[in-house]
Amino acid sequence: MSTDARRHPRSRELHRRASRHTPGGVHSNVRLAGPRIFFESGNGPWLRSVDGDDYVDYLLGQGPNFLGHAPQAVVQAVHEASRTGVIFGGQHELEIEAAELVCSTLRWPDMVRFCVSGTEAVQAAFRLARAVTGRTRIVRFEGHYHGWLDNVLMALGDDGWGVASAGQLAGHLDDFVVLPWNDADRLATVLAEEGERIAAVVMEPVMINAGVIEPLPGYLQRVRELCTSHGVVLIFDEVLSGFRLGLDGAAGRYGVTPDLATYAKALAAGWPVAALAGRAELMERFGTGEVNHSGTFNGSVVATAAVKASLELLRDNPPYAGIEEHGTALMAGIRELGQSYGVPLRAAGLPAAFHVSFGDAEVVDYRSLQQLDLARYEDLAEALVDHGVWVASRGVWYVSATHGPGELDAALTRFAKTLTEWL
Ligand SMILES: Cc1ncc(COP(=O)(O)O)c(C=O)c1O
Repeated sequence: MSTDARRHPRSRELHRRASRHTPGGVHSNVRLAGPRIFFESGNGPWLRSVDGDDYVDYLLGQGPNFLGHAPQAVVQAVHEASRTGVIFGGQHELEIEAAELVCSTLRWPDMVRFCVSGTEAVQAAFRLARAVTGRTRIVRFEGHYHGWLDNVLMALGDDGWGVASAGQLAGHLDDFVVLPWNDADRLATVLAEEGERIAAVVMEPVMINAGVIEPLPGYLQRVRELCTSHGVVLIFDEVLSGFRLGLDGAAGRYGVTPDLATYAKALAAGWPVAALAGRAELMERFGTGEVNHSGTFNGSVVATAAVKASLELLRDNPPYAGIEEHGTALMAGIRELGQSYGVPLRAAGLPAAFHVSFGDAEVVDYRSLQQLDLARYEDLAEALVDHGVWVASRGVWYVSATHGPGELDAALTRFAKTLTEWL
């Protein structure tokens, strides 16, 4: 338990109880990194713990609560829809409405398949890319996260990138080429050498998971051209950026269209839904049965009701201007705090998702990110949590549609108090 346990007696008691039947007391290893706080409820941008503490939330459940906690329109839509059954082993009309909305909101894809997690959507994209190209290898990039399965989980060790977990099959990484991101020349060289064996290039179009780093000007365009000229499928993993950076995600923001893209998180306001979207000529291969994509819970009534209600909200009341204002002011406020406390606090990225750390290095990829003092921020993040700001230790802050002036004030006041006591 990282945070001062004496301050959270009920959470501590529940954690002990949870640990008896749940390894580590958590259901996702990502949560092993955080303080073991138990929450009673969430409302908009606020969380309330079982110990009666409130937290202004900039973690958003690792991103999904883009509309804040318990957005009433979505809660009601899901509740209404699920009164008459949630899964039929056949089709229902909400699937059509949700799919139509995904395609019309994003504008570029013709078709979509729903699934439950981002990890699955990525795997479906790989299989489809391999099927349509008849090739096996996939190019991916340092620091990009694409889920927890054997062929995508990676850590940087003394011998380069390799397995990140005991029990993970190293052989599943054999078909992956790992390159530095934001370096189109390196990609061009690899594609020139072995393009005929490369099925796909996959990337987070903004590297949100490690440092919230934007693509350099022209980089995505060049990647697009290289993929097209080598017959390689370009996959954007928009699990975090989709619907968050704008209605049409990173593809819209940077004006580059992938062949396939994965979505989740902001797609359904916290309900477990992911999607693989793409051009019809590729996606149709699922429909013919030639390429298998399955899942008992795919496209459930609950999932598609949540997608429909979330996307209608985003379409009819786009929150992006407010998020831009809030995130910009919050980043500026954090930088000002750094100046007034005489510490090199760095807040960089985009208003909807940004990265806080210490240092002033120029950061364009995973390796340059390591020049920042990430460990020092991890320590600060723990102190921020103790002062009622719910953030991840890896430095990524997410802003929701419900964060407003009250939360800005609360966050900066609590941040300042944290620095006063922590430094
Ligand atoms: C870019 C990206 N891809 C894939 C995933 C995996 O999604 P999930 O955790 O829903 O399996 C994540 C999760 O954070 C992600 O950020």
